[in-house]
Amino acid sequence: MAGATVVGVGMTEFGVHGKTLPELFADAAFPALDDAGVEQDELDAFYFGNAMSGLSENDTHLAPKVATHIGMTDVPFQRFEDACATSANAFKNAVQAVGAGVHDTVLVGGVERCTPETGMETPEMTRVFASASHRQYEQPSGLTFPGVFALLTKRHMHEYGTTEEQLAEVAVKNHYHGNMNDRAHFGGDKTVEEVLDGPVVADPFRLMDCCPFSDGASAVVVTSDGLGDSFGAEGVDVTGVGHGVDAVPLADKDSLPETKSARDGAHEAYDDADVTPGDVDFAEIHDCFTGAEVLATEALGFFEDGEGGPAAAEGKTRLGGEVPVNPSGGLKAKGHPIGATGTAQITELTEQIRGEVGERQVEDARTGVAHNLGGDSGTTVITVMEERA
Ligand code: COA
Repeated sequence: MAGATVVGVGMTEFGVHGKTLPELFADAAFPALDDAGVEQDELDAFYFGNAMSGLSENDTHLAPKVATHIGMTDVPFQRFEDACATSANAFKNAVQAVGAGVHDTVLVGGVERCTPETGMETPEMTRVFASASHRQYEQPSGLTFPGVFALLTKRHMHEYGTTEEQLAEVAVKNHYHGNMNDRAHFGGDKTVEEVLDGPVVADPFRLMDCCPFSDGASAVVVTSDGLGDSFGAEGVDVTGVGHGVDAVPLADKDSLPETKSARDGAHEAYDDADVTPGDVDFAEIHDCFTGAEVLATEALGFFEDGEGGPAAAEGKTRLGGEVPVNPSGGLKAKGHPIGATGTAQITELTEQIRGEVGERQVEDARTGVAHNLGGDSGTTVITVMEERA
């Protein structure tokens, strides 16, 4: 058992924000503390995630600056960076620290700004993101992240016959879910035809297959299992964590569509929680591109290899389906401020299991899984959360 409980969550709307990184993080951190009913002097540590601010904002050693802004300079703070899996890794480390008795109660979260508010338009931000690909073997070829996931998805299409229509169904579903989330960057009812009519970004992905560049922040308060009933809010238990890894660059991987890091991370987390994929009621998945969601639903064991595309087209991953995926709208519609994405997924898991999300509520949501993938799947952090026994 991971032995930790989430007792408070907070996040900003994902979208375009004119605030500094510390200001934006405060807008998630204080609501998380309020939600938990935790006073700052009850916290033992601050685990903070940010992926790109050195390149995107000329701002490094950010943890002390953010800690100063939110008045948390009395406890140890540290920054985590794992590309898009940044705050999930901060969260995993916090869970393990409270589980091991190193700390009792920790504030964990992340913040990122990726929109033109940083002064960078899409081409420059695309180059910043591409710093997560291999410096010697991939960057010189011009490989960017839409291209990385296009390669993984093309291979999946080649091996299993997955179609562009099936990918488009993922976008339609996640926009439908995002429509019910007032913190989502994009809502809007899309049709498969609209997705397929969009401009090509990286074949097979069109505009609506891609997550946007977003600004945003998220934060959670995690405490030890034993203290899980000591705070104001209803606690949700973290029963399993897994940290899968794989070789980078892409050429060094044994398989592209298998996403080994996700499979290994899922096995570890399921073993830790003593659950099987069939026990999972819903999942928040790293759908940076529609194809990534299809691959992940297979890696997490929800569907056999090659069945992820048909399952999406048959509505199995929609609210009300067999295993609803990304009820928040996912990265596709909710948005993807990379360092904030991991703990935003934990926020959605917590609020779903508490039954607080209104019309996008998953029925009988007792066990949820978060899948947060970093870079070209070199890192994937998987978290299992369950209703408190
Ligand atoms: N989903 C839905 N709508 C989107 C969108 C998205 N991902 N991205 C942009 N839009 C909308 C905009 O609101 C705008 O609508 P409008 O014309 O009604 O105002 C329109 O589409 C064009 O937006 P624009 O900002 O000009 O798009 P762009 O061409 O600069 O960038 C992408 C679009 C898809 C290329 C860019 O968002 C992208 O590269 N996304 C992937 C980011 C990424 O790689 N993340 C890391 C993942 S691992």
